[in-house]
Amino acid sequence: MAELHVRPLTFTLLRELSAERFISGAELAEKHGVSRSAISDALKEVNNLGVQVFSLTRRGYRLAEPLQLFDIDVIRQRMGSSAHRLDLRLADVIDSTNTELLNQAASGAVSGTCLAAELQTAGRGRRGRVWKSALGASLTFSLLWRFEIGAASLGGLSLAVGLAVANALRALGIDAELKWPNDIVVDDKKLGGILIETQGDMLGPMIAVIGVGLNVRLPESIKLAIDQPVTDLATESADTAVASPALNRNVLLPAILVQLVAVLDQFQRGGFGSLSDQWRALHAHQGCWVDVNGATESFVAKVLDVSEDGALVVERDGARLRLTAAEISIRHS
Ligand code: BTN
Repeated sequence: MAELHVRPLTFTLLRELSAERFISGAELAEKHGVSRSAISDALKEVNNLGVQVFSLTRRGYRLAEPLQLFDIDVIRQRMGSSAHRLDLRLADVIDSTNTELLNQAASGAVSGTCLAAELQTAGRGRRGRVWKSALGASLTFSLLWRFEIGAASLGGLSLAVGLAVANALRALGIDAELKWPNDIVVDDKKLGGILIETQGDMLGPMIAVIGVGLNVRLPESIKLAIDQPVTDLATESADTAVASPALNRNVLLPAILVQLVAVLDQFQRGGFGSLSDQWRALHAHQGCWVDVNGATESFVAKVLDVSEDGALVVERDGARLRLTAAEISIRHS
C-alpha cells in the first residue's frame, strides 16, 4: 500500500459516526471547533481507509457498515492487574507495529511496551511475506519483551506465544489450534500468525518484538488475495453479531495480552518445556503426514512431536529428524 496520510480528525470522527443514525456536519463541526468544510474534507479521507460513509444533504453522515475501533480505557480495564505490566499504546495508521517497536527498542523502550494499530500499511509476515489486513477487520499488535537470557535459550518462544493466543481464543469459544511453528488455525485454515524479531546476542540479554496478526472480519477481496487457505473470526464464531465478544477487538486484545503476560512469565521461569504439554494438546498436525518445505529441500514426513526446545520432531523414511526452521503443510492424499 502506498504511504497513507490520514489526519487525526478523520479517526476522531470515525470513532463518533455510527451505522444506525445520521449525525449532522454542523453538530460535528461545532463539537470539534472546526468548519463544516473541515469535517467534509476529513471524511473524504475515509475512502482511502476502505471505509464507506454515506453523506446526505440536511441529514449529515452515517457509516455504511458498523465499524468498531479501539477504546484504550476499555482495553486497560479488561486487562485487570496485568494492565500494570504493559505500556499500551495505540496507533491509527502505521507501516508495521513490529518495525516501529524494533526502532523504539533501539532507543531504550521498556519491556512490556505494546503497540496496537488500527491499520498497518506495510504489515510484515514470516519469510518476507506481506501481512494483509484492513481497518476494523483485523487485530494487529506488537509487544516488546526483554529477556535476561541469550538467544540460545529463546527456542520455543514463538510456540509459547502461539499457545497464549490460542488459549485466549478458545476461552472466547473459537476452536483455535496450533500449526508449527506458530500459526493459529481452525480446520487447517489460517486465522492468525506471529512474527518474532529479536535483537541481542547468543549469550547476553535479548529483546524480542512479538508481532501478532489475527483475521477478525476480512473483506472477501483480501481473503482472495492471500495465497493459502485462510479464515477469520467472523466465519468461525457461533455468534456473528459485530458486538459479540469473539469479534470485539476491545475484548480480544486484552484477553490475548493477559494470556501473553502469563505465558511469557512461565516461559521465563521454565522455558518452552514447561508449556509443551499444553502446546501438544492443541497441535493440529500431531501424527499427520505433511509436506515439509525446508531451506534446501522438500520432502514428505510424519509429525511425531514437538521437543522441549520447540523443534518439530518428524519421521522421514524411518529416521527421526528435528526441524528448527521449515514450512509444513498437511498432505491431503
Ligand atoms: C505470519 O507470517 O504468519 C506472521 C504474521 C505477523 C503479522 C503481525 S501484524 C502485527 C505485527 N506487525 C507486522 O508487521 N507483522 C506482525
